[in-house]
Amino acid sequence: MELSKRVQSVKPSATLSINARAKELKASGVEIINFGVGEPDFPTPHHIKEAAIKAINDNFTRYTPVGGIAELKDAIIRQFESDYGVSYEPGEILVSCGGKHCIYNLAQALLDDDDEVIIPAPYWVSYPDIIRLAGGRSVIVHTKEEDGFKLRPEKLEEAITPRTKLLILNSPSNPTGSVYTRGELEPLVEIIVKHRIYVLTDDIYNKIIFDDADWVSILHVNPDVKEYALILNGVSKTYSMTGWRIGYMAGPGPIISACTKIQSQSTSNPNSIAQMAAVAALNGPQDDVERMVSAFAKRRQYFVERLEQVKFVTFYPPQGAFYIFPNFSAYYGKKYNGQIIANSLDLTSYLMEEARIALVPGSAFGDDRYLRFSFATSMTIIEKGMDKLEAALNRLL
Ligand SMILES: Cc1ncc(COP(=O)(O)O)c(C=O)c1O
Repeated sequence: MELSKRVQSVKPSATLSINARAKELKASGVEIINFGVGEPDFPTPHHIKEAAIKAINDNFTRYTPVGGIAELKDAIIRQFESDYGVSYEPGEILVSCGGKHCIYNLAQALLDDDDEVIIPAPYWVSYPDIIRLAGGRSVIVHTKEEDGFKLRPEKLEEAITPRTKLLILNSPSNPTGSVYTRGELEPLVEIIVKHRIYVLTDDIYNKIIFDDADWVSILHVNPDVKEYALILNGVSKTYSMTGWRIGYMAGPGPIISACTKIQSQSTSNPNSIAQMAAVAALNGPQDDVERMVSAFAKRRQYFVERLEQVKFVTFYPPQGAFYIFPNFSAYYGKKYNGQIIANSLDLTSYLMEEARIALVPGSAFGDDRYLRFSFATSMTIIEKGMDKLEAALNRLL
């Protein structure tokens, strides 16, 4: 049996497989410090769980409209109005089974074979594979640590061709935690409008912002860019609801209808109970979000201080999300058990076997010099993990 060329061209998600390996070791009794996870470690807030229980007891358990219930679309419209200062109609909103599913629908709806999608690297692991599954081509544009891993306008101009359909921007970024400023977005928006390309702004971490960083959207820079913008968000990260699978996207009506049509022939509606929970998340009290963000901020500060002490490592201090992406390439070329550590995957394996720390290799995010740490884990674990990391790295020197 030969599987399709399409599926053979795609890799399974690296972050999910590292997580699975860490869980496997843990199940066999080995203590693992898991810096690999891409989900908040807090429980879903109580009032959100109560709304789901009520939905079950009210028998809200049948098919819903494919693109989401009216109540949830209204809550999203209100949220987007307050976050972006722009009004959307219900026909311009799609609710899917997670933000990832929105992106999948978008790629299927927008891309013909060999259409190009510009993706600044480091990027979230799933973008290139989702594009590939739709027959599109990712055009990876590398950014620099000294630019805060942000796309420079001249690099964007250079990457645009007649086949360019879409640009993906992700701020705060997974894996770097960098956040675009208004000044950095302005020239990018000019180029988007000039070349009339669509832009997916993946804002899934926009409520997790540290210090005095200001989160800015391309819609704040120029509301007219709404014509080209697909705005992605969801409840996974903000409300610690990764397993509930609710994400949403706003954009031009014809694109949203096309995405809804694809969803109607694949998953149908997202889970009815989870939709009710998402209504409670968006409309309810936001103090749990504040509490989680302030815990992330403390951990981020600790990471920054500890990493400053680690020899030969450089990093850009994250301003949002819950990741930090340090450059460990100074350790490449070192030997362990007679084997050379040649790349981010080798160093990740070394740290998993020798220090029992799970990390994600930078190669999964398009830059092999780095490793990704998630600080979605408790301070005690972070402290212990950093001690083990330093000791394991020192053994290589
Ligand atoms: C940058 C980014 N976008 C989108 C998603 C998708 O999240 P979900 O499908 O849980 O809504 C993730 C999850 O890791 C992410 O990191």
